Amino acid sequence: MKKMILDLDTGVDDALAISYALGSPEVELIGITGTYGNVLVEQGVRNALAITDLLGTPVPVYKGLSHSSTTDSFKVLEISEFIHGKNGIGDAEIPDSSRSVETQSAVDFIIDAVKTYGKDLVYVPTGPLTNLAAALKKAPEIKDEIGQVVLMGGALTVQGNVSAWSEANISQDPDAADYVFRSGIPATMIGLDVTLQTLLTYKHTQTWRDLNTPAGTFLADMTDYYIKAYETTSPHLGGCGLHDPLAVGVAVDPTLVTTLDINMQVDTEGATRGRTIGDNTRLNDPVKTMKVAVGVDVDRFLDEFMGRITRLAKE
Ligand code: BDR
Ligand code: CA
Repeated sequence: MKKMILDLDTGVDDALAISYALGSPEVELIGITGTYGNVLVEQGVRNALAITDLLGTPVPVYKGLSHSSTTDSFKVLEISEFIHGKNGIGDAEIPDSSRSVETQSAVDFIIDAVKTYGKDLVYVPTGPLTNLAAALKKAPEIKDEIGQVVLMGGALTVQGNVSAWSEANISQDPDAADYVFRSGIPATMIGLDVTLQTLLTYKHTQTWRDLNTPAGTFLADMTDYYIKAYETTSPHLGGCGLHDPLAVGVAVDPTLVTTLDINMQVDTEGATRGRTIGDNTRLNDPVKTMKVAVGVDVDRFLDEFMGRITRLAKE
């Protein structure tokens, strides 16, 4: 069975990504590594511990780096608080876990997991790429040993969501993202090109509320907060973007998307810092290590998403 690591800045859609992974019998979620973004890393790992407890699978959680290597600290943006709530999970309340984070660092856990599981390991980052870049700097050989990276971030054919150029996860640490993109690690980019097509509405969350279980109520409360925020920030969409769960969906079943093989880079200087773009110095390189999702089977993904999470939350 495929082993999966999720690297999360546990906000609302990250929490839905955990739920999708735990509802997927094809993969074993062997660990969650925490990063910063929607929340501080401390809050993110607290959320991951509590959610995995609530969903009945107490997955080990490892704390990652708390800010990018080009900054001294990290402060949550007002817009992130608006979209994900102060606690990152739509201000829904769930009991704190009695477990603590693991003593091993996230970066060392990632490296050890690659050494142990090799090609059977899929790593799914749904926040800034700070932890993965640090792991690659410490143990560069893991790029050839890992199975696959399926990352949520970036935009190739559409505008960004924090600026015209830049998507939120990449904008937090463009240098780390550029390092990962150029490293040669096999990676699939699940960007705004496809994640803004996979939308969830109150009709969907009502299904979870109707389950009348602690997990169903939590998922509905948390996600309704997120849908409401999207009504203000992106009313034209008619729902909230399932960014992070789509990355998990593709890690489980790559046929959910169609992809373009292209070597990518990230602008790290000037006005377009944070932009994900094809690397024109490697356009004719016969070896392409990145795939960018450019099409998605929306109906099939939504069916899988709802089916898997509803089954999980029923128990
Ligand atoms: C990404 O940014 C975060 O706010 C979400 O969790 C998602 O990973 C979307 O741009
Ligand atoms: Ca995220």
